Amino acid sequence: MILNQVIIDLSALRNNFMEIKKWVGAGTRIMPVVKSDAYGHGMIPVAETLSGLGVDYLGVFELEEALSLRAAGIKIPILILMGIMDEEVEEVVQHNLTPAIFRFEIARSLSDMSLKKGKITPVHLKVDTGMGRLGIRPEEIGRFLKRLLSLKGIILEGIFSHFSVSEQPDHPYTQEQMREFMHAIIECQRFGIFNTARHIANSGAILGHIGIDYGMVRPGILLYGSLPSSGWKKSIPVRPVMTFKSRIILIKRVPPNTSISYGRSYITDKEQTIATIPVGYDDGYSRLLSNKGVVLVHGRRAPVVGAVCMNLTMIDITGIPDVKEGDEVVVLGIQGKERITAEEIAAQMGTISYEVYCLIGKSNQRTYINR
Ligand SMILES: Cc1ncc(COP(=O)(O)O)c(C=O)c1O
Repeated sequence: MILNQVIIDLSALRNNFMEIKKWVGAGTRIMPVVKSDAYGHGMIPVAETLSGLGVDYLGVFELEEALSLRAAGIKIPILILMGIMDEEVEEVVQHNLTPAIFRFEIARSLSDMSLKKGKITPVHLKVDTGMGRLGIRPEEIGRFLKRLLSLKGIILEGIFSHFSVSEQPDHPYTQEQMREFMHAIIECQRFGIFNTARHIANSGAILGHIGIDYGMVRPGILLYGSLPSSGWKKSIPVRPVMTFKSRIILIKRVPPNTSISYGRSYITDKEQTIATIPVGYDDGYSRLLSNKGVVLVHGRRAPVVGAVCMNLTMIDITGIPDVKEGDEVVVLGIQGKERITAEEIAAQMGTISYEVYCLIGKSNQRTYINR
């Protein structure tokens, strides 16, 4: 029997999508980012739910993800954010996918393959406006476009970029990146390209109203119910989509001076009640949560005591009345009036909510509710 359960509430996903839509306005298209198994929420059910709401573009990281979506019957355009490798061009053409483009040799192979198959493949030009990751640098755009536009088997359907610090409200670097993006758009116009899709806004930028009037936005974390950071004066009322529950498998009343878990990093200082739950770092509950994490039992907060093991964690339930073996434990989510958020877990681990969702979502069996 599986005691751990990740529950994905698709009604929260739908709510978040509709709230983002309201925020950006009817004239702005939304390209949900469903890469990395939809941040651990399950790419296919998430994509199916969003397609049902009229989403007309999806963003994935790599070809494999796009192929899984096609195999699941998702027919809408899919942008491969990572771009593609030479050996992938045939599948891209065959499955009507849209790669990010920033290497001319790949564009040429893709064009040749498209012509061979009697097709024209749409591509989105990725510009590196300051992330220092993927994309061509703004000063190279003119030269790149000149060569790109000579290729007859591809069509430049979009131009896009990605922010580096948009999760920090009012960061001046975001404005610098906006200027570079505008420069790239003007370069495109110099080559007679006026009607491409333009997109740069991730969740932080959407919250900051930056780059949302280009006509398309690419939210990820907002869809899954978290803000990219705290500190927003006004924010979109999103709801967490993921809950992680387990159950107590053993309760022990132990005397003072009892050592708990590997490494003896926790020693009881009085008589305490310790419960064991079958959740460990193999379930995405990081070892960094040793002596830091908190879970919910009977609607009360119970701290993690000692080191998180591979498959087990001990929690202190002293003072929580009537707890029995088999009782539910909420590791992420709501129980009674209490709540454990991905942001809280992330802060305890020294990371961001994105990583918490990916870790927990991918390490556990998921159940979908409110389809
Ligand atoms: C290229 C690109 N666009 C959009 C997003 C979505 O970002 P967020 O989840 O912050 O909205 C990501 C996520 O990492 C990304 O890599």
